[in-house]
Amino acid sequence: MRQDIFLAGSGLTRFGEWWEKSLRDLMSEAATAALRSSGMSPLEIDLVVVANMLAETANDQAGLGALASSLFPHRPPALRVEAACGSGSLALHTACAFLESGRAKTVLVLGAEKMTDAPANAVAEALMGAADGELDAPSGITFPGIFGLIGQRYMHEYDLTREQLSVVSAVHHRNAMDNPFAHFRQELSPEAVSASPLVSDPLRLFDCSPVSDGAAACILSTARRSPLRIAASQVASDTLSITERPTIVSFPATREAMSRALLEAGIERSDIRAVETHDCFSIAAVINVEDLGFAREGEGIRLYEEAYAGHPSLFVNMSGGLKACGHPVAATGLKQLIDAGKHLERASIRYGLAHNFGGAGAACGIHILENIEA
Ligand code: COA
Repeated sequence: MRQDIFLAGSGLTRFGEWWEKSLRDLMSEAATAALRSSGMSPLEIDLVVVANMLAETANDQAGLGALASSLFPHRPPALRVEAACGSGSLALHTACAFLESGRAKTVLVLGAEKMTDAPANAVAEALMGAADGELDAPSGITFPGIFGLIGQRYMHEYDLTREQLSVVSAVHHRNAMDNPFAHFRQELSPEAVSASPLVSDPLRLFDCSPVSDGAAACILSTARRSPLRIAASQVASDTLSITERPTIVSFPATREAMSRALLEAGIERSDIRAVETHDCFSIAAVINVEDLGFAREGEGIRLYEEAYAGHPSLFVNMSGGLKACGHPVAATGLKQLIDAGKHLERASIRYGLAHNFGGAGAACGIHILENIEA
C-alpha cells in the first residue's frame, strides 16, 4: 500500500429478515454503528462508497450514492460500486485507491442489501445478473444450479463424498452460535445437512447461503490510526460465464488476487492465521481454501474436517461464514473484513484475510488485515 490505511471503525446490522426496516434504515444503522465505534464525527467523512447489487430490482431504488450521502449532515461526495456478491470488497478497493491517491483521508464504505421483500423466484432471477445473460441465463439455470454443477464436477474429480461435504456447513453453524449478528445461530449436524431438502444436486438446503437483509460499514482512514491496518487490497476478474472456462473446480481470479495480495503485504501465506472466505455454497468453501493456497487441490475438505474435530490448522470463517451469518450480497465483503478484524483482535493474531467474490468467482477481492498490536 502506498499509504498506511487503517480500519478506524466498523458497524453491522444483524443479517436476517428485516420486514420492518427499509434499505435506508439498514444503511443508517450500520453507518451510525461504524461512526460510534470510531469515535469520529460524521463531518470527518470525506467520501462514501456504497456497495449494492439489487436495489433497482428488489427495492425500486437507484441513486444509492446520494441516498447514503443524505445520511450525513454535510452531504459528502458518494458513489456506488457493483460487482454482484463481490461488491463489498470492490467498494473497499475503490476506497483504498482514493485514500492512496490522497483524494480522501477518511472514507465510509457501506454495503447494504434488502433481499427478502421480493419473492424467492424474483430474487433468484435477479441474482442471475451475476452470471452471463447470453451464455448462462437462457438455459434457466440459477446460482444454486451453477454451484450444483461445480459440486458435481468437483466430487467426480476428487472423490469428495456427500457426507464429507456436509461437515462444511456444520462447522459454519457451530462458529456462528456466539455471533449476535448471524442470520442463523443454531447448531447443525452433518447428518442434518445431508438430510435437508435437495436444491440442486448435490447441493441441499443447508449447503446454501440464505437470502438475507443486512448492512455493514467500514471506516477506512489515513488520518485516524487504529490497531487494524489494511496490509493489501487486490482485485482480479474472470469470465462471467463458467462455460468459457477451462475448469470449473477452481477460481483463477482468487489465485491471482491472492498472489498479488501476498506480494503487496510482503508476507508469506503461512503468516495468515485467520480467513473469512466466500462460502456462498459449501462446495465454494472447499474450493476457496485450495485456491487461496491453504490446501492442495482436492484436499480443501481437510481444513473443515480438522475444524469439526476441534483442532483447526487455520481459523476459517470463525464468524459462521455466509452460510450461517447470511448473505445480503453486497454487504458480505465488508462484513468479512469486519469479522476478520474481530478475530485478529480476539485471538491476538497478526495477519488475517477477507476473500469475497461476485458470480462464480468472476470478480474477486482480497484484503489482508494486520493487527499491529499482535
Ligand atoms: N440455510 C438454512 N436455513 C434456510 C436457508 C438456508 N440457506 N434458506 C432457507 N432456510 C430456512 C428458512 O429460514 C425457512 O425456515 P422456517 O420455515 O423455519 O421459516 C425454511 O428454511 C424455508 O425457507 P424458504 O425461504 O422457503 O426457502 P427457499 O426454498 O425459498 O430458499 C434457497 C432456499 C436455498 C433456494 C435460498 O436460500 C437460496 O436461493 N439461497 C442461495 C442464494 C444465492 O444464490 N445467493 C448468491 C450466491 S452466489
